[in-house]
Amino acid sequence: MLTVNELSYSFTDTGVGKSVLDNISIHVQAGEFVSIIGESGSGKSTLFGLISGLLQPEQGEIILNGKLTHQRLGKVGYMPQKDLLLPWRTVLDNIILPIEITKGSLEEKKEGIRKWLIRFGLSDYEKFYPHELSGGMRQRTAFLRTLMTGKNLLLLDEPFGALDSFTKRSMHEWLLGIWEDLNKTVLFITHDLEEAILLSDRIYVLKRFEKSCIEVKIPLSRPRCSEFIYTQEFLKIRKSLERLLR
Ligand SMILES: Nc1ncnc2c1ncn2[C@@H]1O[C@H](COP(=O)(O)OP(=O)(O)O)[C@@H](O)[C@H]1O
Ligand SMILES: [Mg+2]
Repeated sequence: MLTVNELSYSFTDTGVGKSVLDNISIHVQAGEFVSIIGESGSGKSTLFGLISGLLQPEQGEIILNGKLTHQRLGKVGYMPQKDLLLPWRTVLDNIILPIEITKGSLEEKKEGIRKWLIRFGLSDYEKFYPHELSGGMRQRTAFLRTLMTGKNLLLLDEPFGALDSFTKRSMHEWLLGIWEDLNKTVLFITHDLEEAILLSDRIYVLKRFEKSCIEVKIPLSRPRCSEFIYTQEFLKIRKSLERLLR
């Protein structure tokens, strides 16, 4: 579904090139859940900017669905690091954004979204405004909006990064619960090791100073639940990843 080959990128807006990504290669197969983990400033969000087409690579190639293209805007479902919900729109009207101007009646689209609101635990909040929601609800709203793009590949940039650990835990349970039905391919950014292991089939560790990208497979069986984090198997993976991140 996605292949990134020997990608390099520098920000040049100050006139001096600032290398952020250097010779990075990753791949994601259809149906996979893949995470990118790395400390702040290692270029994770920049990589998403490149994949989504907001930025163009300096070197290397990005292949989506087997096709090398420079026109990537609108081809993936991208949930940026800030949820960017429109404050003057209700939950339902935020979620409808990606399909608002597509063909079909608005009422039918709203009915379609209402079915999802139930799965997302938001059905009582359809008419609420973003400032009236809890952090977890805002993230679910933003996630549902990303899902409405109908794209198979979803790029989620630290969707649970701003949540407290209890809410985060319940979001993991929730995501693991609906993951099987969603039938989507996810590339997920996080700096939370536990979250990455629990959710992913594979993890790429992005290292800031070495500018390297190391692939780690997560051999935990599915379906998973948040209790997995207490198993010996989980701790072993966690330890080896911690060593890699050092
Ligand atoms: N628009 C920009 N102009 C210049 N430098 C930037 C810009 N956006 C990000 N950077 C720099 O690029 C590096 C990587 O940023 P980013 O991709 O946001 O990292 P991460 O998401 O891993 O925290 C950081 O050093 C950051 O300061
Ligand atoms: Mg970031």
